[in-house]
Amino acid sequence: MPGLHKHLAISAIRAALGLTLVAGIASFMNPLASATQVTHDAPPPNAREHEFGDAFVVSLGGKLYDNYWAGSGSAPPVTRNPAFPSDLQVSDTDSWRCVSCHGWDYDGAEKADGSDQQQQQFVSLRHLQGTDPFNMLELFTRAHPDQKALASGGLPLDLLLLFLTVGQYDPANFKPEKTLSKKSLSRGRDIFEGVCMSCHDPNGKSGFQARPGMRGSLGWQARHQPRRMIHKIINGVPGESMLALRFMDEPAIADLVAYLKTLDPDAGQVDP
Ligand code: HEC
Ligand code: HEC
Repeated sequence: MPGLHKHLAISAIRAALGLTLVAGIASFMNPLASATQVTHDAPPPNAREHEFGDAFVVSLGGKLYDNYWAGSGSAPPVTRNPAFPSDLQVSDTDSWRCVSCHGWDYDGAEKADGSDQQQQQFVSLRHLQGTDPFNMLELFTRAHPDQKALASGGLPLDLLLLFLTVGQYDPANFKPEKTLSKKSLSRGRDIFEGVCMSCHDPNGKSGFQARPGMRGSLGWQARHQPRRMIHKIINGVPGESMLALRFMDEPAIADLVAYLKTLDPDAGQVDP
């Protein structure tokens, strides 16, 4: 039972990987680092560094899966990944991102460019959920001689590989037919109005950078790129002040996504 694995084993895994290194975690995360660097002239006598909980630590791995370089504040590769198929359009940097090949559902569907084509040549990583994180480095290094820059390991790679074994969301919780009830939509609306509206406005259309092929709109994204949206809502957005809702139950997040689908209807709008 993957859920059980997630709750029982993660603290032990973290301890074994050395992920209790509090300052280490804070210092490589871009906006987080500046947000936590509160300076005091002299620390109070019993001051203890903040220790991060499981949900937050795993969400860092999710951000690195999305964009390793934005998430770790390092410079991205400047050439195209030779392992990326030449007939598919993608920017040089994006050709290295895990999500570009393994998808927003970790099964190869919905790529970084928003396209929803399942590519035969890209393997699914779903079977890794619930597996032993200590096998991951070997698995990754063997499968990815192209990702040499990452293979030297370190904390960011540990977090990324930990995410793949305990952090993948369960698609069964996000089946659209499960969240059509009035009760679901009203719980989704409560979450949206309490948590999201202050940054993204009541219509869900504010707070986004312009991106080709995408309407900066939570309603549009919930209907057209649900997997990308679910990953970003659970893990946050690398390098941005966006929240990570991993501390919430997946069924509640599914209700939120169901409600978001009702915002900013497509009718009468020009497609991006
Ligand atoms: C250019 C496309 C591409 C990118 C980018 C990519 N992968 Fe892969 N990945 C693949 C392919 C193809 C395989 C299968 C390789 C093989 O079996 O020889 C694979 C295999 C894997 C495996 C082994 C799965 C198994 O069960 O054996 C892991 C783990 C993995 N990738 C993780 C990652 C991570 C983490 C990233 C981001 C840092 C990443 N991949 C980026 C295409 C990609
Ligand atoms: C503190 C302000 C803030 C709050 C609160 C917030 N967000 Fe965001 N959100 C952001 C920022 C900043 C971005 C990054 C914008 C960008 O890159 O275009 C973002 C990005 C996103 C994205 C990713 C869009 C993409 O690139 O695919 C989604 C989805 C999203 N927010 C949904 C939500 C939802 C749902 C909530 C409520 C649970 C929420 N946000 C609450 C600030 C916020």
